[in-house]
Amino acid sequence: MQNTNRGSFGGKLGIILASAGSAVGLGNIWRFPTEVGRNGGAAFILVYLCFVFFLAMPVMVSEFVIGRASKANTVDSYHRLAPGKPWFIVGYLGVLGGFLVLSFYSVVAGWTLHYTIASLLRQLTSGRDYGEFFNNFVSNPWQPIVYVALFLLFTHFIVARGVQAGIERYSKIMMPALLAIILILMTCSLSMPGSREGLRFLLHPNFSKVTASVVLSAMGQAFFSLSVGIGCLATYASYFQRDVPLVSSAFSVCFIDTLVAILSGFIIFPAVFSVSGVEVDAGPGLVFITLPNVFNMAFGDVPVVGYLFSGLFYILLLLAALTSSISMHEIDTAFLHEKFHLSRPHAASVVTAVCLVLGAACSLSFGSWEDVRIFGMGFFELFDFLTAKFIMPLCSIFISIFVGWVLDRKLVRSELTNDNTLHIRAARFFVFLIRWVAPFGMSIIFLNELLS
Ligand code: PHE
Repeated sequence: MQNTNRGSFGGKLGIILASAGSAVGLGNIWRFPTEVGRNGGAAFILVYLCFVFFLAMPVMVSEFVIGRASKANTVDSYHRLAPGKPWFIVGYLGVLGGFLVLSFYSVVAGWTLHYTIASLLRQLTSGRDYGEFFNNFVSNPWQPIVYVALFLLFTHFIVARGVQAGIERYSKIMMPALLAIILILMTCSLSMPGSREGLRFLLHPNFSKVTASVVLSAMGQAFFSLSVGIGCLATYASYFQRDVPLVSSAFSVCFIDTLVAILSGFIIFPAVFSVSGVEVDAGPGLVFITLPNVFNMAFGDVPVVGYLFSGLFYILLLLAALTSSISMHEIDTAFLHEKFHLSRPHAASVVTAVCLVLGAACSLSFGSWEDVRIFGMGFFELFDFLTAKFIMPLCSIFISIFVGWVLDRKLVRSELTNDNTLHIRAARFFVFLIRWVAPFGMSIIFLNELLS
């Protein structure tokens, strides 16, 4: 039975902006530039692009097919498309993944919120020791948790309003703002003295650095960055109208996501290299320690510019985190709303409360719970590992097998061609990637990683 009272996105632009909003996040602005810098510059970008277009994009198209064909949350979609078969377990893994990702993501988003406020209060251009500033903050027992709670409340507020009045409406405001900020910051960064050095660092292809483990990181980065594998895009696609072209929408989302990732590198590295003597820290330190140092040193003479630059940068990061967190929240809200017949605001409240508890545990793993270890990892690290290295790749393999081999081929074709009104050639190419390239390619890499 189809649920006719579900929300739906209003138009194609809203769909692309909401889905691209899910994809564009901390993964692009915080993680991608670091990985590129560490792993061979342009050589890493080339490997990454292959994973985006030949593995992650077919999985994204598959999620779109599952969502739109079933018009249900990620668990019920499998019940509807493959009744009586155990495929719904993939849906439950997605629901679990949604909770875990949102919990640890909110911690970094909470730090971002704190840094946005700190930069607006001019605390980031005051020449302090930013390493100490960061470490004192993240290890504080309650302050970061307050920011996690605030960030989750913003997310909650948007999701509880519904698909069109919440997710679509806010994506249409936040995504153009995000793109505009990127362009402003990039122009500013590229015009700094010595910025060429940064561009060279980013774009020089160093193929000797591309080892097997770098290839794995490129795949992990592509899946995380495109939000595939936990049913987030399938949930969004369950609100798509019939006339939305699935293949070209997926292409637009991948294109926007990759563009934002590369442009973020164009913001960060020219700025970092324009000041000498700054130690480039990989991981959280790049954005939360190195950059404040750069803002402070580069704009010491004109603090107003430093103030605007750092303020805009953290607002950018915050917007990116928020457009992604609403999509993670929606996986679980849609599930609880439809499965247990809770109202949308009630379902959203349960998700927010659970993520607050789990997020607090992740946050404490940087401070007083540092010694609490499960399989040798703190909560933050564990949730990150379980989702990015395990649930997302494993579910992606199952999703492509499901669409490529289990679902009725006529149904898949009619979804990909909008009932034979669109070009059949692109659809055929994607069916080939979904059936042959994606499941085998991903399985080889996944098993290799698991066994190593
Ligand atoms: N794609 C998001 C990012 O790059 C993260 C994300 C993962 C969003 C999984 C939704 C689901 O930050």
